[in-house]
Amino acid sequence: MDAIARLIRDIPKAELHLHIEGTLEPELMFEIGRRNGVKLPFESVEAARQAYHFHDLQSFLNIYYAAASVLQTERDFYDLTWAYLQRAAKDNIKHTEIFFDPQTHCDRGIEFDPVIRGIHRALQDGKTQLGISSHLILCFLRHLSPEAAMNTLKQALPYRDWIIAVGLDSSELGHPPRKFKAVFDRARQEGFLTVAHAGEEGPPEYIWEALDLLEVSRIDHGVRCLEDEKLVRRLVAEQIPLTVCPLSNLKLCVFPSMKDHNLKKLLDLGICATINSDDPAYFGGYIVENFQQAATALDLDEHDIETLAKNSFKASFLSENR
Ligand code: ADE
Ligand code: ZN
Repeated sequence: MDAIARLIRDIPKAELHLHIEGTLEPELMFEIGRRNGVKLPFESVEAARQAYHFHDLQSFLNIYYAAASVLQTERDFYDLTWAYLQRAAKDNIKHTEIFFDPQTHCDRGIEFDPVIRGIHRALQDGKTQLGISSHLILCFLRHLSPEAAMNTLKQALPYRDWIIAVGLDSSELGHPPRKFKAVFDRARQEGFLTVAHAGEEGPPEYIWEALDLLEVSRIDHGVRCLEDEKLVRRLVAEQIPLTVCPLSNLKLCVFPSMKDHNLKKLLDLGICATINSDDPAYFGGYIVENFQQAATALDLDEHDIETLAKNSFKASFLSENR
């Protein structure tokens, strides 16, 4: 192992862009499916992995939502989250801010309570048993209506102490942030911070809307910002973080190869970029693999790795002291 690989493995990291449903490895998917009597659209673990060839965000989301149908009980959400935390500990992740998609579950008859309770209990165990601190971010599915998002926010209010922020994910194109201004306004009034996926497949205008209308603290992905010089100047001046996910961008064909990824340019421009794994069970690697593949393809040096790791804590919702 070379010096960069050791640094990547050992340096303390925060993960800020991680969909808990996207950590469902095929082995666990089949185990949970069996105990809940849910038939999967794949014949076997190997067949599931074979099916993971995507050409854009939607082709991934179709499989991701189908696989999530095995998750039904509090125990399932606990097991899912606990498996991720154990994996995160191996990568020396010290803090994680996890997305969950309640609408993916509630729309098929699962109650909100077991979903959040299972995740929350695992996060508590992650703190006591693995020393990993965490925050939870509730994401609204942007392909569904703003009214549905508002209903989900209302369901979440009794659990507000367990949720630090709300976010926006799912199919980006055709679903601009402005659609969700009212629900984000309400979320901020209720004391939640805000984030949003923007500029993954969508244009720079969606990043402007996320900043100006949803008043987000950081942008998830945001890699298309480089198409707009004025936007880049703003991201640098205000140090608005981008949670970049290199393997996700590669697997969803946002860039044709890792060598074409713009992460190094973002860093060199002074943007507060971070590295994250998005949906690691589907995209071929957890956070260290994302760092490693980006470092190899883009010739990242020790200074770049340290900057990325420092940025991850700076961009987190941890207090200054912590
Ligand atoms: N949900 C899970 N992963 C996502 C991504 N990369 N973009 C949008 N929605 C998602
Ligand atoms: Zn994402």
